[in-house]
Amino acid sequence: MLKKNLLFIPILLIAIILSCIENHISDEKTVNGSSNLDKEIEKKVDSVLNLMQLNEKIGQLVQYSGKWNATGPSSSKSDQYKLDKLKKGEVGSMLNITSVASIRETQKIVMEHSRLKIPLIFAYDVIHGYKTIFPIPLGESASWDLDIIKQTASVAAKETAASGIQWTFAPMVDISRDARWGRIMEGAGEDTYLNTVVGVARIQGFQGNDLSKTNTIAACAKHFAGYGFAEAGRDYNTVNIGDNELHNTILPPFKAAAEAGVATFMNSFNEIDGIPSTGNKVLQREILKSGWNWNGFVVSDWGSIKEMIAHGYAEDNKHAAEIALNAGSDMDMESYVYEAHLEDLVNEEKVSEQLIDDSVRRVLRLKFELGLFDDPFKYCNDEREETEIYTEEHLAIARDGAKKSIVLLKNETNLLPLSKNLKSIAVIGPLADDKDTPLGNWRAKGEYNSAVSVLEGVKHAVGEHTKIYYEKGAELTIPTLKSGQNQFLHPLKFNNSDTSGIPAAVEAAKKAEVVIMAIGENAYQTGEGRSQTEIGFFGVQQQLLEAVYAVNKNVIIVLMNGRPMDISWAANHMPSILECWFLGSESGNAIADVMFGDYNPSGKLPVSFPRSVGQEPLYYNQKNTGRPYSQKHVTFSGYTDSPKTPLYPFGYGLSYTTFEYENLKLDKSEISRSGEIKVSIEITNTGYRDGEEVVQLYIRDLFGSLTRPIKELKDFKKLMIKAGETKIVNFTINAEKLKFYTVNKKWEVEPGDFNVWVGGDSNATLKATFTVLE
Ligand code: NOJ
Repeated sequence: MLKKNLLFIPILLIAIILSCIENHISDEKTVNGSSNLDKEIEKKVDSVLNLMQLNEKIGQLVQYSGKWNATGPSSSKSDQYKLDKLKKGEVGSMLNITSVASIRETQKIVMEHSRLKIPLIFAYDVIHGYKTIFPIPLGESASWDLDIIKQTASVAAKETAASGIQWTFAPMVDISRDARWGRIMEGAGEDTYLNTVVGVARIQGFQGNDLSKTNTIAACAKHFAGYGFAEAGRDYNTVNIGDNELHNTILPPFKAAAEAGVATFMNSFNEIDGIPSTGNKVLQREILKSGWNWNGFVVSDWGSIKEMIAHGYAEDNKHAAEIALNAGSDMDMESYVYEAHLEDLVNEEKVSEQLIDDSVRRVLRLKFELGLFDDPFKYCNDEREETEIYTEEHLAIARDGAKKSIVLLKNETNLLPLSKNLKSIAVIGPLADDKDTPLGNWRAKGEYNSAVSVLEGVKHAVGEHTKIYYEKGAELTIPTLKSGQNQFLHPLKFNNSDTSGIPAAVEAAKKAEVVIMAIGENAYQTGEGRSQTEIGFFGVQQQLLEAVYAVNKNVIIVLMNGRPMDISWAANHMPSILECWFLGSESGNAIADVMFGDYNPSGKLPVSFPRSVGQEPLYYNQKNTGRPYSQKHVTFSGYTDSPKTPLYPFGYGLSYTTFEYENLKLDKSEISRSGEIKVSIEITNTGYRDGEEVVQLYIRDLFGSLTRPIKELKDFKKLMIKAGETKIVNFTINAEKLKFYTVNKKWEVEPGDFNVWVGGDSNATLKATFTVLE
């Protein structure tokens, strides 16, 4: 106790100085014109800044990784090098240190040795849960349930904070329309509006309403910007988009994140139009910091400052540091170029100390907001670490989130829901008893093999009188990833061609009333660096499926995957398909909840499913082109070997009941540019079960100063409708929903005609029209 108090003395001294210095609010605040800064915190930030030497300021802009769990090329620096830097107070943040004991130990080094004892902030990729694992973000977005999304983020924050960490690199709000891109699993799919509202819900969940609480953590909107538009879906690849796409499609979720008070941003690896994001001044300074008046800090992505050399945008390390800092990248994650060169660059007047001060101020601000200056060890509580992680309560929330994320893609013969009194069930497939794959990629501290498998879920659901036959049938990976192995350092192959398990699977299928077939992808087929040119069933899964179907037609596919897959054959033949993503710790139980009818599925696709990989990138809100129709002629915008429509459209998902939409009404047919239209629709549950429906509102601006998409999601409501009941759902269309980034480079509502559709997916046909007057 005595020792801990001694550690605080210099901090206390700083605090005393702080309270003596009055009204010294920085110039930067005036530059940004920000009105939402906390004046008390600003005073403290400035006071600390006044005490700092240049090397200490630069230190605040440096982030090192703990050696384990590297998510990029591992750093060239030794532990001793990092230790020395910590002692000198020349490090601002660490990532990948993940326990109270090791965080306490690392923070102590700074507190005991550095001159100013400015606490470190600790970061970790908590993408869909810390140890209690929730569905992957793409899957969870399929719930279209912002309450559960917020709730799982808040549980993740609680567990993360209980292990000493204060900052997560999430949410990813990159729009992704290309199933080949492995990181599509980390966001909310192809749509701007869905990514916007889901991103904000996640930020609210992580950050709560008070960052100084020990159950909330700082969030990070990433990757700024355009990362999901990598050409050909190849990770890190060049992005070629114009201003129209950038402002109308990509930036809105980031702007909403900034407005929601997200503490940090991470820039992206890609270039846009010749400029790597890390060196993009327009994005980081003009748009984010000045335009949106945002006061948080931007962390580079892993090594992305240095990578500007490989891009051919920086001559050497020093030049990379100069470009990045001037462009507004505040913190250097694992490039080691700020610490090596910023001091010289300031002395040579290539980087101004004022800009460095601005970056440091941003970092210190968050440290104050988190309360780290009051107590650098406030998140280090052994008891909380012991009792608040992976609790029964958290697992129950994981099950709830998982069942809400499942999408029923097909149920032609009403094979689902299954009776719990079946005499026999065959549970088949490489993922059927897999306790690891459901955790997905980026599973933080999710323990190897800790998920409930499909087989276990089925066993929990049925009684002893149901005979269960289990056969794996096929192996997906070579080799399998073992506990503790780093997925980045042990790449797996997914083309196992061993067919020896198929005959036994066929025998099991012959004996059973129904077959539950768990197939899809391995957890590590999606995630960072996991782009693929094929998106079908890898290995011998297709063979297995066909062989089983040949002997038993009652097949339910339980699909596990991190991207839209090409499941065309299965969609044409199988009676029932459940899209189950990677659902996390409670996966098998949640799948059983849906399969046996304890929960009526309510998920809707956040991304279009293609008929083949050749359609990618595929998205509903495409442009019309000059030749949209088939005119009994080949020269239209389509394919000669495939329909151009998706296999399953964005927003699609079935229920065990049916919904009928009618009486779409607008309260007026003309409005001014700032006017409002009320939309109402009647929805009737025409089936025999209560069910939830996601009612979706789409609009189309028929003519503009720039071409507009053929449909855009603008709002949705998820609601429970009892069997036989009719509910009226109301929406409001206003300027916020009608404006776009126009040819004038402004957000404007343009006059003209608009279409409105309301329905249960992006193919909604109930249509009304209105006009915005000059
Ligand atoms: C690289 C990834 O692109 C980023 O999303 C992640 O947060 C960092 N590595 C840190 O692990």
